[in-house]
Amino acid sequence: MSHHPKLAIIGFGTMGQAICAGLVEASGYPASLIHAVDVHPAAMKARADALGIRLSKDVETAAREAEVVLLCVKPKDLKELLSGLTASGVLDHKPLMVSIAAGTNLAFLDAHTPAGTPLVRAMPNTPCSIRKGMTVLSPGKGVTEAQLDAARALFEPLGRVMDLEEKHMDAVTGLSASGPAFIFVILEALAEGGVQCGLPRGVAVELAAQATLGAASMVLETGRHPAALKDEVTTPAGCTIAGLLALEDGRIRSVVARGIERAAQVAGGLG
Ligand SMILES: NC(=O)c1ccc[n+]([C@@H]2O[C@H](COP(=O)([O-])OP(=O)(O)OC[C@H]3O[C@@H](n4cnc5c(N)ncnc54)[C@H](OP(=O)(O)O)[C@@H]3O)[C@@H](O)[C@H]2O)c1
Repeated sequence: MSHHPKLAIIGFGTMGQAICAGLVEASGYPASLIHAVDVHPAAMKARADALGIRLSKDVETAAREAEVVLLCVKPKDLKELLSGLTASGVLDHKPLMVSIAAGTNLAFLDAHTPAGTPLVRAMPNTPCSIRKGMTVLSPGKGVTEAQLDAARALFEPLGRVMDLEEKHMDAVTGLSASGPAFIFVILEALAEGGVQCGLPRGVAVELAAQATLGAASMVLETGRHPAALKDEVTTPAGCTIAGLLALEDGRIRSVVARGIERAAQVAGGLG
């Protein structure tokens, strides 16, 4: 596989544009090698022009010419898209296919692509749009290390990348892809607490966001367990233990953990 393979991005919505921008702006991927396809190209023309990539409605040409096809359409649109591409023969050269569709497993992708097509399932999240994302990859059978490297190279400009077995993908979707929405709610609640204690709202939001960022960075950068870091800031008879006990009275741990469990269950049914 070439260092910068010819890339088709099918579906140029929120995620397709975020990944494309990361590749062109942050990793120096040659824009001339990217062909994005969408059913509404006129609506996205300005974005495509700014990135310098080709954008069209011509999904067959994009797929036929690509070494890597990145599927960024909604799960409900995948079956018709893949069946049409397979029937028209434009996937016969067996490009590497990378799908970010939630709840859509490798077996489904395999069933709707030509036999022997190399497949990788990926689960990014919306912080990818500011290059603070997390993407988990699951390679299908027969995917070579070079092909997996090519899939990794699509997401590394957007944040962290991790490989996991496909059996974990619904949990990954509930925690990592839905997770930012849960954090936004928690962050909003932290800020409300500050407002209740008299802080101006803008100040409260900034303090809550920076505390969240700082705490997350401490976990990632030190590799230490969150409980150990929490114990270190909990002075006996101090204000932090008083606040923690109030949170525990509200069953904060089980409420948050059950939210992830529920999101993962729903993710499993999306495909
Ligand atoms: N957003 C997230 O946080 C997130 C995170 C992880 C994974 N994902 C996955 O990423 C995928 C895309 O999500 P998104 O939020 O980027 O969706 P989106 O903004 O709706 O973008 C998808 C785009 O693809 C177009 N499209 C539909 N069928 C097509 C076809 N046959 N050929 C070309 N373009 C087609 C859509 O047009 P229409 O609007 O007319 O359908 C739309 O413009 C989904 O499968 C989702 O599960 C999303």
